Amino acid sequence: MRSEEKKHKMKNLQTIVLSNQEISPGYFRMRILAPGYKGTAHPGQFVMFRVRRSLPPLLRRPFGIFQIGSLPADCEGMPEKEFIELIYKVVGSGTEVMRELHHGDRIELLGPLGRGFEIDDVAGDKILVGGGIGLVPLYMLADSLADRSRTRLLIGGRSREDIITVTEFERLGVTSHVTTEDGSLGEEGLITRILERKLDKYPKAKVYSCGPMPMLRAVEAICSARKVALQVSLEALMACGVGACLGCVVKGREHSEQNPDYLCTCRQGPVFHSHELDWDRLEKSAEQGKSS
Ligand SMILES: Cc1cc2nc3c(=O)[nH]c(=O)nc-3n(C[C@H](O)[C@H](O)[C@H](O)COP(=O)(O)OP(=O)(O)OC[C@H]3O[C@@H](n4cnc5c(N)ncnc54)[C@H](O)[C@@H]3O)c2cc1C
Ligand code: FES
Repeated sequence: MRSEEKKHKMKNLQTIVLSNQEISPGYFRMRILAPGYKGTAHPGQFVMFRVRRSLPPLLRRPFGIFQIGSLPADCEGMPEKEFIELIYKVVGSGTEVMRELHHGDRIELLGPLGRGFEIDDVAGDKILVGGGIGLVPLYMLADSLADRSRTRLLIGGRSREDIITVTEFERLGVTSHVTTEDGSLGEEGLITRILERKLDKYPKAKVYSCGPMPMLRAVEAICSARKVALQVSLEALMACGVGACLGCVVKGREHSEQNPDYLCTCRQGPVFHSHELDWDRLEKSAEQGKSS
């Protein structure tokens, strides 16, 4: 049975964009003024983002928090500015609007939300496996693990354009391994091949992963065959982000008609221990989502 999600200091912030830059074709990095996030948000948590000026009102969209930081106070009396950074891929109407935002544009941010990664045992080998934009929630995790345990980042994408911010992970002291399906960067092939090699060498490592469902499913199969602990961050479709619409519900491993085991991804996740999830059903609903 899954423990209840922790209570976090979630708030709805009316705020502004500080910068919004294209860092690779179709991938943007947005810095947002976000007082109160430092020391509150946990690796793996997310925000619901809304562009205030858009009509009709744009639904909120969920995005993982890549990083939290602050700009120092300046000598002209401007106080320290806390910010968060999101990295997003432009895939549809919401992210098309986001790409047009500039410094000073007003937005709304609901967060920090959800349950992030559990970091119970900081010693020992850690392997972070990201697929494309799935690397986003792994950065804060790497930051909290890297100086205490041997941490490796395995990142895969279709092509070199999908491999972003790896040098920033390396600056934290993380060793990185890159694969691309077309061989344009790193080793040609799928990142799961590297995961198998690393687990041959470090069979007691703990694995943390985020990415597209086929990759997550393959990571889960490898880890469960080797009895390796795995936490995954799921990217379910979300409308409210706070447990009100039930649009993000997935079935847990214990689910049956007699004993329903529904998991609300936005509140009990997005990070789950892999043994909590019914992977066959998850994979099927991801495929149905794609074809509908
Ligand atoms: C907890 C969480 C964290 C996320 N973090 C990030 C992040 O850091 N960076 C990032 O780029 N994206 C992230 N996403 C996905 C992001 O929310 C969607 O890409 C975004 O909402 C798409 O909005 P849109 O209006 O541009 O596209 P839409 O017009 O709504 O959709 C365009 C296409 O994208 C698909 N899509 C929409 N939402 C999702 C989703 N949640 N998962 C998979 N496919 C989706 C749709 O099915 C459709 O095919 C995250 C999602 C969740 C649930
Ligand atoms: S997104 Fe509404 S309940 Fe999770």
